[in-house]
Amino acid sequence: MENNHEKAVTSIEWRGDHVRILDQTFLPSRTVYSDIRDVGRMWEAIKKLRVRGAPAIGIAAAYGLYLGIRDLPENSYPSFEIEVKRISDYLNSARPTAVNLSWAVQRIQHTIHAHRDEPIQVIKDRVLKTAQTIHEEDKRVCKSIGLNGVDLIPKNARILTHCNTGGLATGQYGTALSVIYHAHVAKKNIHVWVDETRPLLQGARLTAWELMRAEIPMKLVTDSMAGHLMQSGKVDLVIVGTDRVAANGDMANKIGTYSLAVLASYHNIPFYVATPASTIDLNIADGTLIPIEERDSKEITSFGSAEVAPSRVEVYNPAFDVTPSSLITAYVTEKGIVKPDYTENLSKLFG
Ligand code: MRU
Repeated sequence: MENNHEKAVTSIEWRGDHVRILDQTFLPSRTVYSDIRDVGRMWEAIKKLRVRGAPAIGIAAAYGLYLGIRDLPENSYPSFEIEVKRISDYLNSARPTAVNLSWAVQRIQHTIHAHRDEPIQVIKDRVLKTAQTIHEEDKRVCKSIGLNGVDLIPKNARILTHCNTGGLATGQYGTALSVIYHAHVAKKNIHVWVDETRPLLQGARLTAWELMRAEIPMKLVTDSMAGHLMQSGKVDLVIVGTDRVAANGDMANKIGTYSLAVLASYHNIPFYVATPASTIDLNIADGTLIPIEERDSKEITSFGSAEVAPSRVEVYNPAFDVTPSSLITAYVTEKGIVKPDYTENLSKLFG
């Protein structure tokens, strides 16, 4: 089994002088790789969800920043720094909710500032190194999250998950899906309910695809079936990923997550959230301050190429919602399991 998720797809790869992404908009019907050589293309890939999932967005943005600065003139540090700031703001504008994007960009800005006395050519090399480090770290972190979460999964557990939190969404293994993979490797005899995740179907298109490749028993359901599954005793726990965790433990994740948490609480089912440190934003006091991305109405009014709503209908399409910390049983992190009081325990571990 180890081999099955070791062979898991590479969502993003540095190829010596450019980035290769697996374009997730074509999955599951086609495996299309796309070579990205400039920051504009990277912005577009993040915006259009060709590369998606909080940690993968951070990795992509880090490489994107390098692509944006690598051809800048090398004669003046002040004008170099102004350009770095402009390109960083541009990348940050691609998607607002996942904090990994601005976290990665800021980390690279720190690298640049810390080495401001060195030749710009050397600083550029350091930027690429930092992007590669962010990428490599994420692989290790996701493995630790998976291993740390295994003890939370009882034998024969029926697990419900939402959106896609696998290797596609990260450097490798995933977050919530890493826990699922590692529970499977530990022979827990698990079964996974995969929410399709309207409107962009990350569950149906991506999670189902990843779990099938890893040969993990699963069934696909529509989002609205979760209540019925819980009511009929078919769910032992819920585990999801997150795009941003606030200092008090509130968190934003794919739209529909909050409804799942309310349902899980009503049915006394544990609700776990898997997160790397890079998704924890201690600068934000609570979930009301997390920016929620609104996306194009066409994502709701059409299904593939078919129109499924009257033309000119008005649409509201928030891509994420906020789950309050009171509904979260525990966080699974690379540093271990974090339980309430979240304000105290998140700051102790990640402050
Ligand atoms: O809009 P997406 O597909 O980027 O949303 C992704 C999610 O909501 C994931 O659950 C989250 O990023 C965690 S991924 C490890």
